[in-house]
Amino acid sequence: MRIIAVLNQKGGVGKTTLVVNLGAGLARRGQKAALVDLDPQAHLTTSLKATPNGPELTTYELLKGQATFQQVLVPVGELMVAPSSLRLSGAELELASQPGREYLLKEALGDLSRFDLVFLDCPPNLGLLTVNALTACHEILIPMQTEYLALHSLSKLLDTVELVKKRLNPGLTVGGIIGNRFAKRKRLNREVVEMIEERFGDQLFSTQIRDNISLAEAPSFGKDIFAYKPRSIGAEDFDSLCREFLERGGS
Ligand SMILES: Nc1ncnc2c1ncn2[C@@H]1O[C@H](COP(=O)(O)OP(=O)(O)OP(=O)(O)O)[C@@H](O)[C@H]1O
Ligand SMILES: [Mg+2]
Repeated sequence: MRIIAVLNQKGGVGKTTLVVNLGAGLARRGQKAALVDLDPQAHLTTSLKATPNGPELTTYELLKGQATFQQVLVPVGELMVAPSSLRLSGAELELASQPGREYLLKEALGDLSRFDLVFLDCPPNLGLLTVNALTACHEILIPMQTEYLALHSLSKLLDTVELVKKRLNPGLTVGGIIGNRFAKRKRLNREVVEMIEERFGDQLFSTQIRDNISLAEAPSFGKDIFAYKPRSIGAEDFDSLCREFLERGGS
């Protein structure tokens, strides 16, 4: 089983879109997948219209040790989803003074052997919630927009990953970098992809997710791209991403 944190401290780069659609596509291919919303914005939760099992059964209570992973998981089609709530925005401060605060998620997830894949959708910062995800996971996936400034935040992100690896989670690996909102006709996009390839080699997935309106629309219907528009460019790209993800295998 693989635990995969999807992270980038830059906002709006496609973390949640990636978790929803890669998760859904892999579930359709028979993988037992759980998606964990670690963002107080709860976009993963609302994108899939995941209603918590109770008012106090979200990832906030999970991290506080007030609910088990089993209790917070809700079925959404073939997926299991751990919803979050705005209360999670208080967690960083509330948990900051706890001993072992970086390991709360790892501890709370417990035995995950019934799943093939668990995806952690991180908030857009490198705070305690993200560090908890980095400590709990085996590997990370980084979605990024193929723009010049994105390279800058990528370096900072990889520095943090190195630190966590050194101090908290020696087995942590970078599972891959995925270009999002890619426009082939834009020279800048192509140049940035070349720069990432030069620096990170085959860590860059050869599949890129193109800019596609259906991907932006699907969340308002509470659906993943395969349920919303199976014949869209977005579904085509995520289908090939799922294939590449499985071909690359575990770390
Ligand atoms: N390839 C794409 N084509 C069109 N729209 C996209 C694409 N990828 C993401 N979007 C849209 O861009 C917005 C940001 O995407 P998303 O929420 O996945 O990013 P995020 O990194 O999770 O953001 P945050 O940092 O706030 O959590 C959303 O409205 C989403 O629907
Ligand atoms: Mg998000």
